[in-house]
Amino acid sequence: MGKERYSILFSSMTGNTKELADAIREILPEETLDYFGLCKDADPQSEILYIGFWTDKGTADEATTTLLKSLRNKKIFLFGTAGFGGSEEYYQKVLHNVRENIDPSNQIVGEYMCQGKMPMAMRERYVKMKEDPNHKPNLDMLIENFDRALSHPDKADLEKLQKSVLR
Ligand SMILES: Cc1cc2nc3c(=O)[nH]c(=O)nc-3n(C[C@H](O)[C@H](O)[C@H](O)COP(=O)(O)O)c2cc1C
Repeated sequence: MGKERYSILFSSMTGNTKELADAIREILPEETLDYFGLCKDADPQSEILYIGFWTDKGTADEATTTLLKSLRNKKIFLFGTAGFGGSEEYYQKVLHNVRENIDPSNQIVGEYMCQGKMPMAMRERYVKMKEDPNHKPNLDMLIENFDRALSHPDKADLEKLQKSVLR
């Protein structure tokens, strides 16, 4: 990573993506850090930007999307969390949608995604929906996925992220 100045910018409604941002901060030199904080407050001057999003409707949340659209001539490391994860295929689909917001003058130097727990109200809604005899057939799958997400991001997710940042 050398002497390049960098910022870590992220959006995080419920704290999952912030855990990833903290894990990146932990392993990079504090002397070359220009800014650590929310995407929506950022005026990024650094050469390299670590940009974290949470997945909303299959792409990055709005604050991150707005930031990404504004960037030119930056090196960007994208990181994100998604509720419906656990599959590399799904992450690739999300990352494809996120990249659509990035001008070609920028260079994407890395990407990382993992699963992030969701609010309990969502599970309660699924369980409620199951009471309807005509409910969608995928509810059990959604509940299973919800429960799988509960432990994420976990230690292994954060270590994998740190490895991919240092690569
Ligand atoms: C309004 C809303 C929409 C969401 N849409 C998606 C989605 O389309 N795909 C997905 O995988 N997860 C979705 N999620 C789950 C979040 O992306 C996931 O829990 C994420 O880790 C939240 O990150 P945060 O804790 O940093 O806010 C959604 C969550 C909320 C609250």
